[in-house]
Amino acid sequence: MSVGYVPVQWNRHKRIYDACTLGGIAAYLAAFFLAGKALYRGAHAISDPILAMRALGTCAYVLLHVILSIGPLARLDRRFLPLLYNRRHLGVATFFVALGHAAIATGFYHGFGIVNPLLSLLTSNTNYSSLTAFPFQVLGLLALAILFLMAATSHDFWLKNLGAAAWKRLHMLVYAAYALLVMHVALGILQTQRQAWLTTLVVVGVALVASLHTIAGLREIAHDVRGRRRTPRGDGSWVDVGCVDEIAENRGCTVTVAGSERIALFRHGGCISATTNICAHQGGPLGEGKIIDGCVTCPWHGWQYRPADGQSPPPFAEKIATYRVRLAGRRIEIDPQPLPPGTAVEPARIEDGKHG
Ligand code: HEM
Ligand code: FES
Repeated sequence: MSVGYVPVQWNRHKRIYDACTLGGIAAYLAAFFLAGKALYRGAHAISDPILAMRALGTCAYVLLHVILSIGPLARLDRRFLPLLYNRRHLGVATFFVALGHAAIATGFYHGFGIVNPLLSLLTSNTNYSSLTAFPFQVLGLLALAILFLMAATSHDFWLKNLGAAAWKRLHMLVYAAYALLVMHVALGILQTQRQAWLTTLVVVGVALVASLHTIAGLREIAHDVRGRRRTPRGDGSWVDVGCVDEIAENRGCTVTVAGSERIALFRHGGCISATTNICAHQGGPLGEGKIIDGCVTCPWHGWQYRPADGQSPPPFAEKIATYRVRLAGRRIEIDPQPLPPGTAVEPARIEDGKHG
C-alpha cells in the first residue's frame, strides 16, 4: 500500500480528476441540450424532459465506452495510465448520470397512470418474442441494476470483505451491462426511428471497444508466447529474461517464463530486483509501474512495495512474492520459483556502474 494512503481517499490528483470528470459531464449535457434546442425548432421541437433524458442517456453511454477503453489503452500506451488511476470515480459518476436518464424515462413514459411506474415498466410491454417491439427499457433497467451493484461495492471496504477474486468477478459484470446497453439502444433505435447519428454511436462504440480489447489481448498473448520459450539454462533453475539495457532507471518491465506467473523486473539505484507482477490490491500489473521514493509503485492506484523484500513501507503491512535474481554480464537471470511474500532478496548489482 502507498505511504500516501488514507482511509478516505482524497488527494490533489483525485480532486483534479473528479473536477475534470464533472466539468466534462456538465459541458456535454449543456452542449447536447443547446444543440437539441437549436436543431429542432417549431413543429419538430423536443420537450425539455425528453431532451434531458436523451442527453443523460447518451452521456452515460459515452462514459461507459471511456471506462471500457481505458484498460486496453493503458496496456498499449503508458501515457494513458493516469486515466486508469481513479477509474472507479468515473464508474460511480456514470451510474448517477444513467440513473438520471432512467428516472426521467420511467417518469415520462410510465409515471402518468395509476400503476406503479416501475411495475408499469416491467409489465406494460411483454413482446419478448418480437425484435421490433421488444421491451428494450427492461434491458436498460437490468444494466442499471448492474451499474448500481458496481458503484455500491466500488470502495476498498468491499474489496477487502468480498476478497479480490470475488470483487473482480463482480466488476467484470460491466461487460454484461455493456452488452445489455448496446441492445437497449439498438432496439430503442428500431422502435423510436431515431437519427442516424445514434446508430453511428452504437456501431463506432462497439467497434472501438472490441478492437481495443482485441489488439491489447493479442499483444499480451504474443508476450506470453515469447516468454514460454524461456526455459532454465543448463546450470539449474536460472532463466535468462533479457538485458539490463532494456530497462530504464527507476522503471520496470514484465517477463514471462515457462510454467511461471508473470514476473516484474525493476532497475533502481544501479541494481535489478524481481517481484511478482500482481499487485496485492486489485492485481494491477506492477511491471508497468515505476520506482517512486525507492518503492515499486503500482500503476493502477499507487500501492507501494520495497523492491528488495516485496513489503509495503511502514505503517503498511502488505507483502508480495519476490524472486532471486542475478546478472551474467548485462544479461538478467532469474530463478522463476516465487519466494514467500515479503522474503528479502539481495538485488543484483550492475557492475559497470551505469545507473541509466
Ligand atoms: C430503468 C432504466 C432505463 C429506462 C427505463 C430507459 C429508457 C429509455 C427510453 C424510453 C429510451 C428512448 C428515448 C427516446 O428516444 O425517446 C432510451 C434511450 C436510451 N437509453 Fe435508456 N433507459 C434506461 C437505462 C439506461 C441506461 C442505464 C443507459 C446508459 C448507461 C441508457 C442509455 C440510453 C441511450 C444512450 C439511449 C438513446 C438516447 C436517445 O434516444 O437519444 N439507458 N432509454
Ligand atoms: S494499487 Fe490497486 S491494483 Fe495496485
